[in-house]
Amino acid sequence: MNPVFSKPQAAEGPPAEDLDLRRVARAQGAGEKSLYVETYGCQMNERDTDALATLMAAHGYRVTEKPEDADLLFLNTCSVREKAEHKTWSDLGRLRLIKNEKPQVRIAVLGCVAQQMGEDMVRRNSFVDLVIGTHNVHAIPDMLEERERTGKPVIRADFHSEEQKIFRPAEILASGRVAAFVNIMVGCDHKCTYCIVPQTRGPEISRKPEDILAEVRQLAEQGVREVTLLGQNVNSYGKQWAEQGPDFGQLVLEVAKIPEIWRVRFTTPHPVNVGESLYRAFAECEKLQSHLHLPVQSGSDKILRRMKREYGVDRYREVVRRIRAARPGIALTTDIIVGFPGETDEDFEATIALMKEVEYDSAYSFIYSPRPETAALRLSEAVPPELARERLARLQLLQEEMSARAAKALEGNTQEILVEGRSRRRDEEVCGRTGGNWLVNFPGRPEWTGRRVPVRITKGLPHTLRGEALA
Ligand code: 5AD
Ligand code: SF4
Repeated sequence: MNPVFSKPQAAEGPPAEDLDLRRVARAQGAGEKSLYVETYGCQMNERDTDALATLMAAHGYRVTEKPEDADLLFLNTCSVREKAEHKTWSDLGRLRLIKNEKPQVRIAVLGCVAQQMGEDMVRRNSFVDLVIGTHNVHAIPDMLEERERTGKPVIRADFHSEEQKIFRPAEILASGRVAAFVNIMVGCDHKCTYCIVPQTRGPEISRKPEDILAEVRQLAEQGVREVTLLGQNVNSYGKQWAEQGPDFGQLVLEVAKIPEIWRVRFTTPHPVNVGESLYRAFAECEKLQSHLHLPVQSGSDKILRRMKREYGVDRYREVVRRIRAARPGIALTTDIIVGFPGETDEDFEATIALMKEVEYDSAYSFIYSPRPETAALRLSEAVPPELARERLARLQLLQEEMSARAAKALEGNTQEILVEGRSRRRDEEVCGRTGGNWLVNFPGRPEWTGRRVPVRITKGLPHTLRGEALA
């Protein structure tokens, strides 16, 4: 039996009318009211923004790029680091000015800051109308209705255990996109001591495979050719049904069987949960693109222990070795935190040494930012901010050199590019990504969007490539 369809049993699904995409699409074009969304943070938030736009389209709202024209203003927030959270407060100040001019406008806050603050959000900002927790995007229309009926702010920040609620709407409008995100699980059961995500996104819950495949098929019907499977910890997908359903690697293979989907990506895996099924997927599945984002956070065993990452450097090396054996030439990227409490010069040098050993194509690097109610707050030996900044600068310089080297190595190669649309900088150019996730700009016509084009790489810059189409 096909494992993907075997278990778990379907819970009660969303009402059939919710699945009528055409109705949603019609409403989107014809909507008289408009909404504006500001989105910060990770791809999870981007997906939530897509979900809310789709949901509200069915209620007659279209998306506008101009906040001053909108009836509804959404702020989709991130709290992973203090700097991201601060954006919420400055943006709310801006949106408030719009509401001062037009009191009938409604302001809604969603994302991780909304989840974390709940009621406090309106206590501190009385002009906020809706506070939408991370499991409550599906409830936005009801919440709006309640706001109008009661004249009071509405707050929903409870976690649900039924995935039908969390992942609704099941169908997302692709809106002309060629590449789309698909949620496969939410939450995280790890307890990294610096991380606020388990608080803001709740425990791990996997979405039923048949719902994921249905969403991918719907996206494919709308012209999507590349999907990125999304979750905080994708390779513990299916943990809740153990042997009774597909694990992550099997899910990738099932998604790849959909003929109109040419490319599959995913993010983010945890080094501890990478196992045989993912190695097999990289070895067997051509549609799985040659890129792995594998957050390492530190190259020091002592710091990894303090972070409660549940692996040491040797385990991480082993994962890299196995992945490279399964898929030679795969592009590796990572996340690194510097200045974690207790990080000595020696620990930092170990991170630098590991980076050189792995030769990442790129890395996101951050200075440790203390977050409310996380275990790391209790750790001693804070690193002075000046020293943390110095370390970050040195690490980023090294990464720039490695990225430049990786880009140079691609010069002269021919890569298949899935054209995603016009390039941002020049009208006569289009852009798309290599299998290794490098952005390539090259002369071409917008009609090529959605096609696969062989492109010779002519120039490798540290963050992007330039090329010329061969066909
Ligand atoms: N401080 C700094 N960086 C953090 N990250 C998560 N929490 C923190 C924090 N408190 C980084 C990690 C993670 C990425 C998404 O953000 O590197 O992988
Ligand atoms: Fe945060 Fe760690 Fe979970 Fe990633 S694995 S979301 S860093 S707790």
